Amino acid sequence: MAGVVKPLVEDLIAAGELRRSLQRDVRKGMLAGHKMLPPVWFYDEVGSALFDEITRLPEYYLTRAERALLVEHAARIADLSGATSLVELGAGTCEKTRLLLDPLWDKGILASYVPLDVSAVTLQQAAFLLAQEYEGLLVHALIGDFRRHLGKVPKSPNQMFAFLGSTIGNLSTHDRAGFFSDLAAVMKPGDTFLLGADLVKDPKKLVRAYDDVAGVTARFNLNVLNVLNRELGANFDPSYFEHVAVWNEEESRIEMHLRATQAQAVEISSLGINVHFETGEALLTETSAKFTSEGIQAELARAGLGVDWWWKSDESEYMLLLAARS
Ligand code: SAH
Ligand code: AVI
Repeated sequence: MAGVVKPLVEDLIAAGELRRSLQRDVRKGMLAGHKMLPPVWFYDEVGSALFDEITRLPEYYLTRAERALLVEHAARIADLSGATSLVELGAGTCEKTRLLLDPLWDKGILASYVPLDVSAVTLQQAAFLLAQEYEGLLVHALIGDFRRHLGKVPKSPNQMFAFLGSTIGNLSTHDRAGFFSDLAAVMKPGDTFLLGADLVKDPKKLVRAYDDVAGVTARFNLNVLNVLNRELGANFDPSYFEHVAVWNEEESRIEMHLRATQAQAVEISSLGINVHFETGEALLTETSAKFTSEGIQAELARAGLGVDWWWKSDESEYMLLLAARS
């Protein structure tokens, strides 16, 4: 009788490190002139499930556009990469991954799939499913942070690093430069980088994608306050904040904020601080940069990554590109 095939799950985050890093981010972000939080803290179990719901919203075109590109071009991408190992950064539920795994698996050269994500529960669930579906494939899940743990990814020949969903847009321009150069430093000759990037378009369409009628994105945004309440003993009342999505033309990015609907003081007990909000004051919770094809290629080039192939979706909403060390 066939046994249950289990993935290998490796936790790259030392005990207590996640909490210390949350504490650092919250202290710095809440005491800043313009309050802000990095988006990595959205993804507890509830936040990951809400993001999954977002990907199916009629307004959130990104996932559909990327999936359509993968359906059309994954076989070609598999041929071009010749990958024996697929490393997926910010893999989440790995839902679109099967579109990439299938042609690589059919070629008979794929030995391992290495998803890396900070959201442990979502990653483990996805890794278990994939290990069952692709019997014989080593599924080596890494619980980690793609900003810090690229050097811990096990090496194998002809690796393809995939970074899908336009999660790259959630890094600041400065952090993207650091991320691309860290990635270039771990990539070997023969390795490839598959990147999904959302493109600049009509701001009305962009704002709708981040402020859906059903209010799922609002719940996703507000949930970060529950994370701070639970993890840091804070006493945020989410009903005193509203979700706001705006297009920042100068920075070419969508910004999500939580705006205080009334003046209030919030205690964050594990940090021993009180944070004051004025009525209308905004807490910046996420930036989601939108790119031009030339702009993203120039950023990659500055890190020594050359783009050999790219594909744009219908109406140039979204692009996938395949890069390698130049
Ligand atoms: N790639 C998937 C999921 C995108 S959602 C898709 O295309 O649909 C963003 C994912 O990145 C989430 O699963 C989140 O947990 C993960 N993530 C966000 N910041 C991260 C970080 N700094 N390090 C590792 N994973 C991160
Ligand atoms: C994961 N990331 C690319 C999403 C985005 O579009 O910036 C997160 C998200 N935020 C609101 N909706 C979706």
